[in-house]
This record gives sequence, structure tokens and C-alpha cells, in this order.
Amino acid sequence: MKILGIETSCDDTGIAILEVKNNDAFLVLANEVASQIKVHKKYGGVFPMMAKREHQKNLVPTFIQALRKAEILRIFNSQFPISNKFSNDKISQLKIILEREPELAKKLIPFLKKYSKPDIDYIAVTNGPGLEPCLWVGVNFARALSYFWDIPIIPVNHIEGHILVSNFQFSIFNFQSNPNDQILKTEFPAIALVVSGGHTQIILVEDVGKYKILGETRDDAAGECFDKSAKILGLSYPGGPIISKLALQTTSYNLQAKLPRPMLNTKDYDMSFSGLKTAVLYSHIKQPKKIQKNKDYISAMSAEIQQAIIDVLLKKTFKAVKDFGAKSIILGGGVSANQELKKQFSVLASEYKIQIIYPPANLSTDNGLMIAIAGYFNIKNNRGPTPTNWENLKADSNLRIGE
Ligand code: KG4
Ligand code: ZN
Repeated sequence: MKILGIETSCDDTGIAILEVKNNDAFLVLANEVASQIKVHKKYGGVFPMMAKREHQKNLVPTFIQALRKAEILRIFNSQFPISNKFSNDKISQLKIILEREPELAKKLIPFLKKYSKPDIDYIAVTNGPGLEPCLWVGVNFARALSYFWDIPIIPVNHIEGHILVSNFQFSIFNFQSNPNDQILKTEFPAIALVVSGGHTQIILVEDVGKYKILGETRDDAAGECFDKSAKILGLSYPGGPIISKLALQTTSYNLQAKLPRPMLNTKDYDMSFSGLKTAVLYSHIKQPKKIQKNKDYISAMSAEIQQAIIDVLLKKTFKAVKDFGAKSIILGGGVSANQELKKQFSVLASEYKIQIIYPPANLSTDNGLMIAIAGYFNIKNNRGPTPTNWENLKADSNLRIGE
């Protein structure tokens, strides 16, 4: 069985092709990501309408690249004769599906006329949570392919993708593994911490497909705090990787004040990061101009910002681990690419004698493979509204993974 994974919930256009063999071995045929960092860098953050336009531009070329890599791109010729009749009705219906994505339609319709239906059994697509205009591009792309090629769609919750991809140690193409073995290795109940530019949630995972949101940020996501703090310090976008790199260069520079750790001692699992960002701003503008540009000062601030965020994430996650008797911790989302965070979580997990699971850095950030994997488990467990008819699929920016 081959599953196409489509991810467009934020600023990465991700397309993957995952093959699941009869014996449940996974084969990653392609996992292509078109990053929009260059576009958003100028503004220090993601503008949804700009990201939507980029997804429209990137989807078809990324898809072609993935099909080519997976060796399932088939141009119409005598060997692969035209399988779809291009009736005007079919093209008109495609135009209706892609009414709000004219740039995508301009690329997709010629593509569908040139290439024949590839060997794909299911289309897994992120339908939430995320930036609404971006989600719709991926969803309508999936609907158009599903309609045209008659392939069922599996809607996938983006957060579930981040949780499940962590169970696999994929780092290269054509890495094979047995998903059942891997999943069974995750001992349940587990506590998942999904931290990215858009989300910060602590989730109780009782089993694959059984989730309960225990706590989340009440304002900014942890990644957003990294990004906004970096902007305040005059650093580039995205701020997370830059701050973590600078934090490594700390010298003996003495910061006058420590940053706050918001909601560190509250009894719930909720978090708040907007106050931390404001504290970074006030602390920074108080400094003389000369200090503000000082390399040692910037490195010391970077280390302090990173540690303030890690302190809150550690405390809240391990509180949940204790309260629910968790046997493992699963980390996911862009911020889980942070080396220091992984290190400190690993040290504490070994003190607690529990298992810790996180993906390789290239699978921490958004990608299509995580969506294909979650899609596979949706079919396998026969749960959720799957597979869905293309006519019924909608994007839901506030989609929740559990209660
Ligand atoms: O999961 P992701 O690719 O997209 C969203 O769903 O948001 O996460 C992107 C976020 C950005 O905020 C970025 O600054 C952060 O992940 N990030 C990091 C690191 N790498 C990416 N944050 C801290 N340390 C890193 N090494
Ligand atoms: Zn994400």
C-alpha cells in the first residue's frame, strides 16, 4: 500500500510517499519539503496569506519531485496510455474545487493532463490545526487529486503526526522498519509534548489514537517565543535554531537580571510564553545601545531565553508524567529539534527511569511523512472519519486531538 502525505498547515510545503508492505514494513519512498523561510525571513514571522500563496506555488513542483524520487511519476505515452478522459466536465469540476487557489489550479490542471495516475492507494492530508488559509491549500489539493484520480482521502490531525513520527527512527530514505514493533516499543501511557511555532500542548497518550490534552499554552507557543525573542534581539528568522546556536557560545558574561519562568508553579499543565517575550523586550531595551549589540551579551540572553522556556516545559511535562504514572515521554514539533531541550529531558527521564522518544531533527519540523504515518494508523485502526469522500473534507484550524 502506498500513501501520499500532504502537509501545508504552516510555512512548510511537505509531500511524502510512504510504502507499507504486507508484513507492515515501512519504506519511505520520498519526503520532500519546500521551506518558505526565505520568504518569511524579511518579516520575522509567518504571514498566512503569503504562506498560502507560496504553498500554491510549491505544491505541484514538490509533488513531482516526490513522485520522481519514488519512481512513480508516469508521463502519458504508449506504455502508460491516458487513463482519465479529459472531459470538459471533469476540468470544470476541478476548477470549482480549486476556485480559491487559482495559482495552484494553473499548475495542477496542466500536470494532470500530462501525467497519468500514479500508484497511490490513499491520500493523507493535514486538515487541522494550523493556519486556515494554508490548510485549505493542502486540503483542496488533496480533494482535487482524489476527485480526478479516484483515490480516497484520510484527514490527519497535524499534532497526531508530530506524536507518531517520533516513534520511528527515520533519517534517510528507504529506511525500513516494522511499525508494530516500533509502536509496541513505546510504553503506554505516554506523555507527549508537542512544541512548535504554532502549538505547545501536553497530551496524555493512552495508546495510538487515544489522546487527551492535559494542558497547553494560553497565549504564544514556545517556538513563537523563540522567534519573537530573536526578533527583539535583532536576530534572524526562525529564531529557535539561531538562539540555540548562540546559546552554545556563552562566555562568563553576567546578565543583570534573570528572565521569568511564567506559570512554573501553577497546579495545572497550562503554560504561558507571551510574558516571557515581553520580559525579553523590557530587559533588552534597558541596555545601553553598545551592550545591545555585544556578542557576549546576545549569547548570554540567548542561553537565558532558551533555559527559561526549557524550565517551564520540563516542569509541566514531568508533573504530568508523575501524575499519570507515564512510562514514556514523546517529544515532537519544531522546538523538539533543540539539542539542549533533548539533553535536559533525557537526563530527567533517566532519573525517572522512563523511556524518552524524539524524532531526528529533520522530522521534528513539519513534513509530509508524519502525515502519511498518522494516516496509515488511522486506516489500520479503522477510526476517525476515514477514508473520506473528497466532497466532505474541510479544513479546521482549531481541530483538537482530544478533549
Ligand atoms: O513544527 P514546526 O516546523 O512548524 C510549526 O508547526 O510551527 O516548528 C517551527 C518552530 C519555529 O518556531 C522554530 O523557531 C522552532 O520550531 N525551532 C526551534 C529549533 N528548530 C526549530 N526552536 C528551538 N530550537 C531549535 N533548534
Ligand atoms: Zn508542526
